[in-house]
Amino acid sequence: MGIGAAIARALAGRGFRCVLLARRREPLEALAAELGGEAEVCDVADREAVDATAVRVAERHPAIHVLVLNAGMPGGGGFLDLAAERIEQVTAVNYLGSVWALRAFLPLLERGAPSDVVTIASIAGTTVPMTTGPYAASKHAQLAFSRSVAGELGPRGIRIHAVNPGPVPTDAFPQTRTLANPVTRHAVVSPERVARAVLRAIDHDRREIFVPWPLRAAAALQGLAPGTMSRLAARLRVSRREERGNE
Ligand SMILES: NC(=O)c1ccc[n+]([C@@H]2O[C@H](COP(=O)([O-])OP(=O)(O)OC[C@H]3O[C@@H](n4cnc5c(N)ncnc54)[C@H](OP(=O)(O)O)[C@@H]3O)[C@@H](O)[C@H]2O)c1
Repeated sequence: MGIGAAIARALAGRGFRCVLLARRREPLEALAAELGGEAEVCDVADREAVDATAVRVAERHPAIHVLVLNAGMPGGGGFLDLAAERIEQVTAVNYLGSVWALRAFLPLLERGAPSDVVTIASIAGTTVPMTTGPYAASKHAQLAFSRSVAGELGPRGIRIHAVNPGPVPTDAFPQTRTLANPVTRHAVVSPERVARAVLRAIDHDRREIFVPWPLRAAAALQGLAPGTMSRLAARLRVSRREERGNE
């Protein structure tokens, strides 16, 4: 669905045979049929299921050339809002899902080298979020993982890239508030634009791409003035709470 479907269409348009992974069989098989690709039902948070999927894929494709780590879910609130189970789930899917998938598909990527791994992280992986702490923490971890393995896997012929989208209206992330705000709505991009960034990352060996690119400034500010960004985020969070209280 969403960004992952747009990336699959873009890669299929380039002639790749795509093997699609997700939990829901019906939409997965429909997209695979549209693209002339293959569907593998798999929960990326389940390490054994990911390992078994990689074994099945390897029987049909001993080598792969691109792995896209896109599966993800929203947190749906801040630390105080979320049940412990939800925090575990967000971490298991958004962060560990990437780790288990890269680990399981590594032998196939090595056989396909030179090969590429593209992580769909987020601007929330680089900045202090206003209301979505556990989600942002999972995205910080996912992005740090991508950055850290680049040096380890480069000598094996595997190039590592991350794409950090801003708000993208999709089923799980409708971005209603962002779209309603006359300032923030300018940062909204389509899934197809994120997909084009994935192709750019692969074509030009870009280590990290922000979509839209001005969001890079927010990440830079976070690095330069983390205290100020944290205070700003806290203030915005309070004013949002007050706004909600007045609604
Ligand atoms: N939309 C945004 O504003 C935005 C911004 C920055 C980053 N991102 C990131 O972009 C990625 C895609 O999000 P999206 O907006 O395209 O959301 P989406 O439309 O809800 O799509 C998420 C996809 O991930 C799959 N998925 C979710 N949990 C999974 C699991 N445990 N195992 C396997 N597949 C799973 C879903 O399929 P099933 O439900 O069938 O499993 C679905 O195909 C996420 O990593 C998200 O964090 C999104």
